[in-house]
Amino acid sequence: MVATSEYIVCDLKNGVLVITINRPDKLNALNKQTIEELHEALVEAENQHEIRSIIITGAGQKAFVAGADIAEFSNFSVAEGKQMSSIGHFKIFNFIENYSKPIIAAVNGFALGGGLELAMACHLRVVSDNAKMGLPEVSLGLIPGYGGTQRLAQLLGKGKAFEMIVTADMITAQDAYKWGLANYVTTQEELLNKCFEITNKISTKSPTAIKTAIKVINAGYNNNLNGYEVEIEEFGKAFGTKDFKEGVGAFLEKRKANFKGE
Ligand code: COA
Repeated sequence: MVATSEYIVCDLKNGVLVITINRPDKLNALNKQTIEELHEALVEAENQHEIRSIIITGAGQKAFVAGADIAEFSNFSVAEGKQMSSIGHFKIFNFIENYSKPIIAAVNGFALGGGLELAMACHLRVVSDNAKMGLPEVSLGLIPGYGGTQRLAQLLGKGKAFEMIVTADMITAQDAYKWGLANYVTTQEELLNKCFEITNKISTKSPTAIKTAIKVINAGYNNNLNGYEVEIEEFGKAFGTKDFKEGVGAFLEKRKANFKGE
C-alpha cells in the first residue's frame, strides 16, 4: 500500500495504484507540497512489486489539474522561478516519463499549464469528454516550465504546439484525440473503467519487458542517445530475464504466462 497524504489520495486496486490529486477547491493546482507528496507516493510505489501500473487523476468533477499554483509563485524572483521549474522536472515530470511502470493520466476536466504538462509526462492519456486542455502560460507573462514546450511538440507536432502555446487556446477532448494528445475519450463516468481496461492488459504482461520498453522508447527522444543502439542492447538483455523464460515457456506449453518481473 502507498500512504495517502494531505493532497494525494492513494488507492490500490488489483495491482493498480490510483493516485488522486486532492485539492478540488483550487482545481487541484500543483503547489510545492502537492509536488512533494506526489513524488513521495511515486517513489514508494516504484519498489512495490504488486503494483503493475499507476493511474493519476484529479479530485472532483471539474478539473484534472488547473496548473501550477499561481498564488504560490506570484512573487518569485528569477532564481526562484528557475528552481521551481528544475525541481518540478526532477521530482515529477521527468520522473514520471522515465518511471519503470506505465502511468496513465485520467484527465477528468481542465488540464491547464502544469496540469497538461503532468498529463503529457504520463505514458498514456485517457480524457473525459468535458475536459479542456491547454498551455495558457503566455497569458501570465510566462512560458510552460514543466516540459510543455518540448512534450507538446513531440505529441502533436511543432505546428500545433506553436499554435497552442502562442495563442494560449484551450482545446476540447475531441480535438485532443484528433491531434494524438488523448489515447481515448470517454464520458466522465466511464473514465476510470477505460483506464482499468488498459491496466488490466498491462498487468498480464512482463514487468521487466515493460520497464525496458519505456526506457527504450524514451531513449529515442534523448539527444545524447541513439534509440536504435539502445534497443539492440536492451533486446539482448531481455533474453537474460526470468520473464523471458516464463513468457516463451508459457507460449510453447500453451498456457498463460505468470510473470514475476524478474
Ligand atoms: N493556481 C492557483 N489557484 C487556482 C488555479 C491555479 N492554477 N486555478 C484555479 N485556481 C483556484 C482559483 O483561484 C479559485 O480559488 P478561490 O475560490 O479561492 O478564488 C478556484 O481555484 C476555482 O477557480 P475559478 O477560477 O473560480 O474557476 P472557474 O471555473 O471560474 O475557472 C479556470 C476555471 C481553470 C478557467 C480558471 O481557474 C483558470 O484560468 N485557472 C488558471 C489556469 C492557468 O493559467 N494555469 C496555468 C498556471 S501556470
